[in-house]
Amino acid sequence: MLIDTFGRRAVDLRVSLTDRCNLRCTYCMPEQGLQWLPKPELLTDAEIVRLVQLAVTGLGVTEVRFTGGEPLLRPGLVGIVAACAALDPRPELSLTTNGIGLARTAAALREAGLDRVNVSLDTLDRETFRTLTRRDRLDDVVAGLAAAEAAGLSPVKINTVLMRGVNDHEAADLLDWCLDHGYELRFIEQMPLDAQHGWDRADMVTAEEILARLGERFTLSPEPDERRGAAPAERWLVDGRTGADGRPARVGVIASVTRPFCRACDRTRLTADGQIRNCLFATEETDLRAALRDGAGDEAVAELWRKAMWGKKAGAGIDEPSFHQPDRPMSAIGG
Ligand code: GTP
Ligand code: 5AD
Ligand code: SF4
Repeated sequence: MLIDTFGRRAVDLRVSLTDRCNLRCTYCMPEQGLQWLPKPELLTDAEIVRLVQLAVTGLGVTEVRFTGGEPLLRPGLVGIVAACAALDPRPELSLTTNGIGLARTAAALREAGLDRVNVSLDTLDRETFRTLTRRDRLDDVVAGLAAAEAAGLSPVKINTVLMRGVNDHEAADLLDWCLDHGYELRFIEQMPLDAQHGWDRADMVTAEEILARLGERFTLSPEPDERRGAAPAERWLVDGRTGADGRPARVGVIASVTRPFCRACDRTRLTADGQIRNCLFATEETDLRAALRDGAGDEAVAELWRKAMWGKKAGAGIDEPSFHQPDRPMSAIGG
């Protein structure tokens, strides 16, 4: 069991498969990209599967999410998914992706055992997409979403980060579009995790603002709190609209900054280079790769993982005066 001193149990493992990305979102990384991890430092496919197996069979993990960078860039992705789907007990398997290439791989991923996907999409305007991501790939993302839905990787969820003066005026249009397509949209408050260290709280579009904007076009009522569990997203029911499953349609807000949800956190993270992070905002990591490559047995690796999680802080502490943005940027943690 992965438990911390506040009594929280980590049952949700987020595995970053690569720190590379094929977009260059302005709020995430600079135009020229970053210093990518050298290949020998990445966990191999077999090392990843071994750690997921250990987490699922020995540490109580029940859900595994693959992230990046952009996880579709990992050549062995389908094989990793298939190996994880063959574990007993079988974890729930999901993927967070920018959607590029998903049109080609959705069916194979589903076949391998992937349950669902979350896709990042910040705008429906081609020109805004091009300036925001520095790549002209909106059509690929839209095609990827359709392929995911067709392959049964549902519910398909969409993650949107709003930026003032860039795409914040699109909030209601994005929701309309997602409702029409049967996708569940979630708006995310921007967090201080960009590689450029340029985050400014005053610039951030808050959950309150987002809900006010949506309120101009939609009537929202809060989903009963007991349905939330450890989920980052607070969800609202959209009056008069029906979701793909025939139930009332929903929209989510992930208010990591203004309404943190750390008290219920159930997450543990593995980076592409084999480090355990007990929090998105952790400043220390635990090196499982070194242990694996030194020939450590499962119990020794499990003990390192337990220790790493035991040291988890109460929360992200973004509002505390002592807050320091972690050295590792969002793109190398996987969100
Ligand atoms: P679902 O189970 O499908 O709801 O996934 P999710 O929302 O947990 O995962 P996803 O990868 O789609 O992440 C959406 C946003 O939530 C990203 O910006 C993540 O960084 C953020 N997020 C996920 N987990 C945490 C967390 O533990 N803490 C904080 N602060 N943000 C998180
Ligand atoms: N703050 C909040 N969300 C972010 N994402 C990337 N960088 C940030 C940030 N600084 C989003 C991506 C993706 C999800 C995994 O996290 O847009 O949807
Ligand atoms: Fe959990 Fe850290 Fe996210 Fe808070 S910021 S919810 S403690 S991972």
